[in-house]
Order: sequence, then structure tokens, then C-alpha cells
Amino acid sequence: MKFDLVTNDPHSKARAGVVHTDHGAIQTPIFMPVGTAGTVKAVHQRELKEDIKAQIILGNTYHLYLRPGLDILEKAGGLHKFNGWDFPILTDSGGYQVYSLAGTGRKITEEGVKFKSHIDGSLHFFTPESVMDIQRRIGADIIMAFDECTPYPCDFSYARKSMEMTHRWLQRCCERFDATESMYGYSQTLFPIVQGSTYKDLRRQSAEFIASMGREGNAIGGLSVGEPAEDMYEMTELVCDILPKDKPRYLMGVGTPENILECIALGIDMFDCVLPTRNARHGILYTTQGVINIRNEKWKDDFSPIDETLGGYVSSFYSKSYLRHLIKSEEILGSQIASVHNLTFYLWLVGQAREQILAGTFAQWKNEILKKINQRL
Ligand code: GUN
Repeated sequence: MKFDLVTNDPHSKARAGVVHTDHGAIQTPIFMPVGTAGTVKAVHQRELKEDIKAQIILGNTYHLYLRPGLDILEKAGGLHKFNGWDFPILTDSGGYQVYSLAGTGRKITEEGVKFKSHIDGSLHFFTPESVMDIQRRIGADIIMAFDECTPYPCDFSYARKSMEMTHRWLQRCCERFDATESMYGYSQTLFPIVQGSTYKDLRRQSAEFIASMGREGNAIGGLSVGEPAEDMYEMTELVCDILPKDKPRYLMGVGTPENILECIALGIDMFDCVLPTRNARHGILYTTQGVINIRNEKWKDDFSPIDETLGGYVSSFYSKSYLRHLIKSEEILGSQIASVHNLTFYLWLVGQAREQILAGTFAQWKNEILKKINQRL
């Protein structure tokens, strides 16, 4: 993997760059649609590429390991061959999924995490080593380190101990990753994850440690877990200022369109979040004019396109009235149209941000566009 930093915005810390992988280039800043179980829910791979213009998607180690399982993925020739997405894939390590399993008998120790499958209740054990091996076998281009996503709120002592364990786990991840090879003939790279909750000292310490590992890209975790947005921005800025400038920075699990633009301004290059797809299924639509709850009565006889400005097929072709009918009737096509639309908006937004950075006009554009897209229609 290689990262070319193309431009720094003169009025903010935003950057435009290109991440090169063996499955193609990624223009940053970028949003990565979440494809937990090898599918971005309700969206075809062809729509992802041609309509949404996604450049990289996510997969989840936890889900893919449980189902369909590694034997099937390996037999298929890796996840790209299995799901027909021939562009970059990033897999999250399971650190966050295991965190979401709190209260289900999950047990975190220095050695690793014991957890119960949400599918059949069977017992499993993840270690930093096994999670590297699993992601190698899934065949992701970008593999995430095994970490503990610290809950919020979290006292200082827990946050420090958790961060220190994440650092020790990272050393084990790096050793295992560096001692193994890609199984499918293309290169894979490992991104470490900064933790430290909302404590500045810990975040500083973690960012310095992660930077010292000298990997090809770096991630920030443990944010957007319930803390105020201001804390998230403060931690993001502090960490971005420490992480190397010549490597991509990935802010995990963030966020709303506003969160994304604010964090691009602080120096983040890569984002992922379930918000556009999850909200789509509930009828919450992001548009260039503002946020729409398509279930509202006011859209009943609005036959105008969902959002023509985006230039996407689905957003221009279908009307608000028709989509409202589909969502209210719980028709499958409603989830499909809304998901393609919301992802088209997210990819449009980061694409616009990149153009504005290249033109040196990002900071001003951000403030203007936020006034529009933050409106509730
Ligand atoms: N997704 C969102 N936040 C996190 C995090 O802290 N760790 C991991 N592994 N994934 C995440």
C-alpha cells in the first residue's frame, strides 16, 4: 500500500490524497460503506460501484468468521472473489463487535476475548494472533489491529489499563502479521488503532505509541461511542497532530455528515459508519437540501425526485412520494432505494470535500454546505 498526499487545504488541516492498493486506488477523503457480512445491506455490488461510486467497502471479522466461516471464504479464493467486489476491502478486527457484545458473557483478558456467538450461542476465543490469521484468510486489503474499544463513560484508571493492553495487543498483532503472508497473491497492510477514551494525556500517549510502530496507515478508535461531539473533535485534532502526515488516518465509526466534514477539517482521510444504511432502512434520508423523514405526511404527494443534485440514478429517478409509500409499506425496494440514495449522498459529500480541498476553498464551502444539509425538512 502507498499513500500520496496530494494537497493540504490552506485554511484548515484537511488533506486530499490517494491510497494505492492492489485492488485499485482510493481518492481521499473517502467514506467506506459498511458491509458487515460481506454485503452492504440492501445494495448490489454493481450499484455500489456504478451508482454510489464507492471505492472501498468494509467487512467485519467477527461476522464473517462466524458465518459463512473461513473454510468457505478460503475455498472461494477470499472475500473479493466470494462477494464479487473487485475493489479494496477493509476488515474491522472484531474489537468493536466484541465491545458491542457487553452483557452477553464476553470475557476480556490479557490473552484475548472469550465470547458467545450471537447466532447459536457457541463459545469462541479471539486473540491478537488469531484475528490477524482470520483477516489474512478473509483476504482484506486493509486489516485492523485487535483492540479494546473503551466504553463511554469510562474512568481514567480503566481507560489507561485498556489502552495499555491495546498497545500490547498491537505488538502481538504486528509480530503475527509480519511473520505471515497474504494467501491470495496481493498485498495486505495492517492499521493500528489509537485508544485512550476522552483523556487528552492518554490520547497523546496512544497516538505517540501508534505512530512509533511505523505502519502504512493509522486509525483512531473509541470515539462516537456516546461522548459529546466537541470531545470527539478535540480528541481527533489532538491525535491527528501527532500521527504522521504522510500516512492515511482513519476515524472509525464516524459519523453524521457534519461529523465527517468537521473531522476532514482536522486531518482525517477515511471514515466508515452504519448511519447512512441504517437510517435509510428507517426512512431517514440525507439530501443536499437537508434531512428528510420520508414517513412524514408532508411527502405524501411530493412527486419530485429524492435529490437530483447528486446526479445518481436512484436519487433522480424515484420520487419522494413513491419512496414514502414503499418505506411505509415495509417493501424491500424501499430499503434498497433509500440505502443507495443515502450512500450516494455520503460519497457525493466526500467527493465534493475533496474537490474543494484541491481548489483551496474547503473551509468556506464546509460552513456553507453545513447550513443547508443540517436543516430538518
Ligand atoms: N469501530 C468504531 N470504533 C472502533 C474501535 O474503537 N475499534 C474497532 N476495532 N472498531 C471500531
